[in-house]
Amino acid sequence: MAERLALYGGTPVRTTPLPYGHQSISETDIAAVAAALRSEWITTGPRVTEFERGVAARVGARHAVAVSSGTAALHVAAFAAGLGPGDEAIVPPLTFAATANAVRYLGATPVFADVQADTLTLDPERVAEKLTSRTRAIIGVDFAGLPCDWEALRALARPAGLALIDDAAHALGATSNGRALGSLVELTTFSFHPVKHATTGEGGMVTTDDPALAERARRFRNHGITVDASERFSRGEWHYEMVDLGFNYRLTDVQCALGLSQITRLDAMLARRRAIATRYRAHLRGLPGLALQALPAGREHAWHIFPILLDLDRLAGDRRAIFAALRAEGIGVNVHYIPVYWHPYYQRLGYAKGLCPVAEALYERLITLPLFPAMTDGDVDDVLAAVGKVIDHFGR
Ligand SMILES: Cc1ncc(COP(=O)(O)O)c(C=O)c1O
Repeated sequence: MAERLALYGGTPVRTTPLPYGHQSISETDIAAVAAALRSEWITTGPRVTEFERGVAARVGARHAVAVSSGTAALHVAAFAAGLGPGDEAIVPPLTFAATANAVRYLGATPVFADVQADTLTLDPERVAEKLTSRTRAIIGVDFAGLPCDWEALRALARPAGLALIDDAAHALGATSNGRALGSLVELTTFSFHPVKHATTGEGGMVTTDDPALAERARRFRNHGITVDASERFSRGEWHYEMVDLGFNYRLTDVQCALGLSQITRLDAMLARRRAIATRYRAHLRGLPGLALQALPAGREHAWHIFPILLDLDRLAGDRRAIFAALRAEGIGVNVHYIPVYWHPYYQRLGYAKGLCPVAEALYERLITLPLFPAMTDGDVDDVLAAVGKVIDHFGR
């Protein structure tokens, strides 16, 4: 007989809830931040450049521009790519709203193309159907940390002269055919939010190999201001010019001190994420009622989150019931994501439900299991025990 669920008065697997994600802060991180606070520089100083160089080297890009969030990074990248009013950018619906919002910030139009049912990433065939004379960019999201099919997306973008932007907020450390995400396409963006692979509290980065794009990104981060040394010589030391309507998206030296310290542990933290995901997959693969994200050959996952897909035909409960049952067992599950255009803001703009049927159907089946480097093997056992218990209860 199935064990009684905590939801119905049974004993929960855990009494202390396990979150779905959590930062990993070491004493070295704390010392690095304290040292920055004791230094001359607490806003833009040498640690910003050092952090940019560190991330650029890690992802194999020539240039990196540190900004105040992953959302700012997307805004900066979309600006650098030249998006503006009248332009369209293709985005997936299965992402955080920021991916599409960045397009809106520039007065351009996000065009949602559906995702693949197995990889959960942008479907190049659906992208091809959405291309118009107004399309200027394609923004892919490496969902959960799995790289998109960038080769297929490039094959669409190149002949049409479109910019490719990689929203790699989930995918620092992922590789595609052996190449790190970060220099694969024109512009890549990362997030350093606490649940991500490395954190600066809030923070983000734009990486590119193109010096002109890097220059546009740097300017946009700092109010659109340029400082030309020769102009300063001829016009006065105070001289600067604002050439674009930029923002204050600067990341501070204090935050970069944390980021620099974090990236020294990035490989270890990634290895832990991958080990946890491997255990999850080994235990959950083949469990009736569940499906897992497909892992195409040549794409190395960075495991920001671990999504599971409920096979609702084989379960006597819907996602809401199963989610509630897992939470009652002390497992801090989450859901990524509500299709972006379902949000009231996008509904007001006229995006109709039903636009991306694959993503909409996936949304009803998705649950995110906890995954972060500080999880112990015991925590992983608890998650697996709770999933087994709940699926056993709801299994037909
Ligand atoms: C896919 C994706 N893009 C962009 C962002 C925005 O990053 P941030 O929270 O650093 O602004 C997130 C944040 O979770 C994300 O998941």
